[in-house]
Amino acid sequence: MGMQIAPSILSADFANLESEIVKVDTADWLHVDVMDGHFVPNLTLGLPVVERIAEVSPMPIDAHLMIDDPDHWAPRYAEAGAASVTFHYEAAKDPRAIARDLRRLGARASVALKPGTPVDAILGDLAEFDMVLVMTVEPGFGGQAFMPDMMDKVRALRAASDAADQGLWIQTDGGIARDTIETVARAGGDVFVAGSAVYGAHDPAAEVVALRDLATAAARG
Ligand code: DX5
Ligand code: ZN
Repeated sequence: MGMQIAPSILSADFANLESEIVKVDTADWLHVDVMDGHFVPNLTLGLPVVERIAEVSPMPIDAHLMIDDPDHWAPRYAEAGAASVTFHYEAAKDPRAIARDLRRLGARASVALKPGTPVDAILGDLAEFDMVLVMTVEPGFGGQAFMPDMMDKVRALRAASDAADQGLWIQTDGGIARDTIETVARAGGDVFVAGSAVYGAHDPAAEVVALRDLATAAARG
């Protein structure tokens, strides 16, 4: 796979979701931020909304669960139609068991690390995951500043995945835009969430293409 872009609908107009989704149909994934008001201090949407989004979206759904008790809830999002489900390591009782449940349901299994969570937490379990999400902001809100310090984690994951020939996807989320995406691509990231950068652009579909082109060129060196 090449460089992939996943626009976050957190920055879209929630009163017009279907038309907002179609605006980014040049994307590889549609990133859907599920927040429960407990794991993060913000509340967005849940299962019934994800189920309808999955029915109308031309792109597969990349669900990012910022919620407590993913051991129970993550598989429900795979059943609701998300092709990739990311849960937070910090909230999980048994990350390996969640990943196995997700794969059994036919979804890609992905684990997210908050900025304060070291990558060592999951380095021994990489074979269980299809993707790791390295948060480049504190989860909860769009429009925050990118944290370049997180690139050490991206590099460590890329090195570990390459050494084991695991083909792991490495996603970053938070502050990804034209001025930050090349830094991530050079560090080894290959799946990019972008909310405000895409939906704040006058042509969101073209912005997706521009971001993907920048990442592709940067990764080639
Ligand atoms: C934040 C969410 C992000 C958010 C990113 O917790 O996980 O997906 O939408 O927004 P930007 O791209 O504006 O930083
Ligand atoms: Zn997200």
